[in-house]
Amino acid sequence: MTEVRAPDEATVGGTDGLMDKIVNLCKRRGFIFPSAEIYGGFRSTYDYGPLGVNLLRNVKNNWWRTMTQLRDDVVGLDAAILSPPAVWEASGHLANFTDPMVDCRNCHERWRADKIDGVCPNCGSGDLTEPRAFNLMFKTHAGPIEDEGAVAYLRPETAQGTFINFANVLTTTRKKPPFGIAQVGKSFRNEITPQNFVFRTREFEQMELEYFVPPDEASTWFAYWLDERLRWYSDLGIAPEKLRLRHHAPDELSHYSAGTADVEFLFPWGWDELEGIANRTDYDLKAHAAASGERLEYFDQATGERYVPHVIEPAAGATRAMMAFMLAAYDEDEVGGEARTVLRLHWRLAPYQVAVLPLSKKETLEPLARRVLGLLQPHFVCDYDTTQSIGRRYRRQDEVGTPWCVTVDFDSLTDEAVTVRDRDSTLQERVPIDGLIAELRRRTGDV
Ligand code: GAP
Repeated sequence: MTEVRAPDEATVGGTDGLMDKIVNLCKRRGFIFPSAEIYGGFRSTYDYGPLGVNLLRNVKNNWWRTMTQLRDDVVGLDAAILSPPAVWEASGHLANFTDPMVDCRNCHERWRADKIDGVCPNCGSGDLTEPRAFNLMFKTHAGPIEDEGAVAYLRPETAQGTFINFANVLTTTRKKPPFGIAQVGKSFRNEITPQNFVFRTREFEQMELEYFVPPDEASTWFAYWLDERLRWYSDLGIAPEKLRLRHHAPDELSHYSAGTADVEFLFPWGWDELEGIANRTDYDLKAHAAASGERLEYFDQATGERYVPHVIEPAAGATRAMMAFMLAAYDEDEVGGEARTVLRLHWRLAPYQVAVLPLSKKETLEPLARRVLGLLQPHFVCDYDTTQSIGRRYRRQDEVGTPWCVTVDFDSLTDEAVTVRDRDSTLQERVPIDGLIAELRRRTGDV
């Protein structure tokens, strides 16, 4: 079979070089590595390095915190990634989860028809086949026999795992609509055109809320979640002018949707989707009820009313959001006549929140520096760095977004104080060690 090629899988879009700078930073500083690199790489897959795993985890944890910890109407779930064909038959994904694919008759490359302008990006030929539906689900076999009875699919969205657990969650939590089920985890799509670094990959992470509401409240909750989700990104540091909502035209809607709006971010290549918020109506619960024979509905004992809730679904990409947060935070400025690169990440997202830096490598400073580190570690994610000059170490921390550096110097040995340096202003302030945690807490604004 001809390999399906993406038009710009290798290049990363954008006119100001920002994408290249982010891709380079990710590799150089250990955020994101191309997967299987020692074997020449594996197209469209990436590994998250020591800093990337922290940043990605912080994105997911902050979503989880906002969606579950700070609310009493949302509970969590972690459903299986592997699932039987029955789930995807009922959900409509086997029939409808497709992208239009064309072949170039000249060079035999394959492309996603809606991503090219009728011309083969490889050879320039306009001699393309008619588009045909290409199903994006990854198919595999569970168990040792690779026959039709053993077929399983890797989930292309977390949502279906939520719908098929609706009754389990309802009976175990005694929740009443409006209430939601949140899920974060990997999803897989055999994308025809993986694109723009981790923006569109075949293996990625999603953060999805299925919010179940009485049918007549669906449009109110749809509007509510549009505002909430837009605010989440701006609260975590993306400038409002780089965010917008875009409502889908009727011909763009997914097979289950009665209305969808995307939260869009101004990527280097233009406005593009960060998250989709859909009014899924009662499509999924009804489909699974019909296919499984189970009752998937809400019974209100107080009123005797029985109904199938409608679903409002804010569905975000964690890996895509991580990239957007990095793009939004990237800045270059000048400090003391020297150019510097700085990631102005929100402290909740920064891979390290505090870096403890002994001014010199001299052994006399180490016991106190380690004591300060031990004091901070239960409260903040810390780095400890003794290499190179203090100026170089500040730059290294700026480049990966560490909001505060704590420097232990020779005076610290006698005055029991350290210097706290702020990433954004570069201002330095002397702070007593016994007041350090309180001072850093004050700076987070989270006291
Ligand atoms: N359950 C609904 C659903 O999955 P979607 O718009 O297809 O909706 C939701 O996906 C989000 O998941 C997208 O807005 C995007 O952030 C992320 N996403 C989807 N496909 C992706 C891919 N191939 N690579 C990275 N992120 C992806």
